[in-house]
Amino acid sequence: MYSATVSLDPAFVVGPVRRRTFGSFVEHLGRCVYTGIHDPGHPTADADGFRGDVIELTRELGVSTVRYPGGNFVSGYRWEDAVGPVEQRTPRLDLAWHSTEPNLVGVDEFMRWAARTGVEPMMAVNLGTRGVQEALDLLEYCNVPGGSFWADQRRANGAEDPYRIKMWCLGNEMDGPWQIGSKTPQEYGRLAAETARAMRMIDPGLELVVCGSSGSQMPTFGEWERVVLTEAYEHVDYVSAHAYYWEEDGDLASFLASVVDMDHFVESVAATADAVRAARKQTKRVHISFDEWNVWYQKRAESRPPSGDDWPVAPVLLEDRYNVADAVVVGNMLISLLRNTDRVHSASMAQLVNVIAPIMTEPGGRIWKQTIFHPFALTARHAAGEVLRLAIDSPVHETARFGEVAVLDAVATHDAESGDVVVFAVNRSLTEGVALDLDLRGFPGMRVAEAVTLSNPDHTWSATADDDTSVLPQPNTSAKVADDRVRAELPPVSWSMLRLVRE
Ligand code: AHR
Repeated sequence: MYSATVSLDPAFVVGPVRRRTFGSFVEHLGRCVYTGIHDPGHPTADADGFRGDVIELTRELGVSTVRYPGGNFVSGYRWEDAVGPVEQRTPRLDLAWHSTEPNLVGVDEFMRWAARTGVEPMMAVNLGTRGVQEALDLLEYCNVPGGSFWADQRRANGAEDPYRIKMWCLGNEMDGPWQIGSKTPQEYGRLAAETARAMRMIDPGLELVVCGSSGSQMPTFGEWERVVLTEAYEHVDYVSAHAYYWEEDGDLASFLASVVDMDHFVESVAATADAVRAARKQTKRVHISFDEWNVWYQKRAESRPPSGDDWPVAPVLLEDRYNVADAVVVGNMLISLLRNTDRVHSASMAQLVNVIAPIMTEPGGRIWKQTIFHPFALTARHAAGEVLRLAIDSPVHETARFGEVAVLDAVATHDAESGDVVVFAVNRSLTEGVALDLDLRGFPGMRVAEAVTLSNPDHTWSATADDDTSVLPQPNTSAKVADDRVRAELPPVSWSMLRLVRE
């Protein structure tokens, strides 16, 4: 058994826990919208055809914001096709996912779903096939009270009050060669700056996200951020970051250490944004919107869109089945997002339902939770107050991809009002348990209110519609307090949460 020590002190604070860290993503992709959130024939469906059971699980997951409508989809989207009477709408080809978009759900339906679910919308505009004017039209439709063409169209379509959407993404992954209308950083930076400037003429209070490169592995990464921000710095509030990880070639140790890359990614984007800030003599800081993150087995067959003459509606796409190790990595990614709360001000797990998702549905039928649901729901529910800067003393082990990596990773939050301290931790060892020793001298008189661990001797176990309860976070009975220290044993390949309250 390994031993690791974590020291906490209320004075060492990174920044606030931000509710927007617990965002999600609904894209018109595969079965995320159709037969996902929207399934009119389902027994729990409302008048708009939205499944009540999906809304319930989205609430239980603790989702704050939902990014919409894409993703790659948005780069070919004509939002006007999906407003007004549903029976007058026509299907369109969706080139991004080689599918047919039936346009049964559009911005008005999505906004009703968001209101019912109690989530904040984060809207993306198409800067692939479209530009400034169409972004302005959509913004006018959504946020202007009335008395102008698009605002009055919204009212005629049944939404008297403006939606007043605050967060807007200026396109999606515009450096990706797969992106419809992909651009050079100069082209995109100019377009993003001009779109942002014009959008603020309608609504100065918007919070705007400019596209960073599609991932830290992109050849464009770094230089893309520098050039785009040089063009657009004054006009935007966030730069986006996207990261997906998966276990490759059976190298579980490297996969479990994926957050080494995520932390480095955040540090690099923040450093680039700060360098541009200095070069452009700006005072405000541009922060990070980590608006796509998850485990995604991109090389599996179900990640490949259909082809040829086959343009199906809502095909099965990206329906990854997550195991226990995947859930540990997801829990660790949340640890990273919280630890970086001074720079990551918003994040969206991609995606919500069926498509690389914590929630799965059968068309017209059952709903079930994937393993990754649990670390997200528990972190979203219990992280509160401020994120603490920890001193972690952990043994290391060797990984093929990242070299020596700490076996234990953790983050803690402290709610000054209630006094609660919550520690989220992962044991990334494949074989050894970790005897965790929490030094709580800065927090005298605490007791363990709840200690749970997600693990399984078979870390390849995945939930199904028939069984999504056999492997749930279980009480960790080893957690004990003595002399202002908490000790707990964390099994190999595990994610844990320890909630401590004042005596
Ligand atoms: O989330 C799935 C896809 O991943 C999104 O459409 C795209 O933005 C990213 O490449």
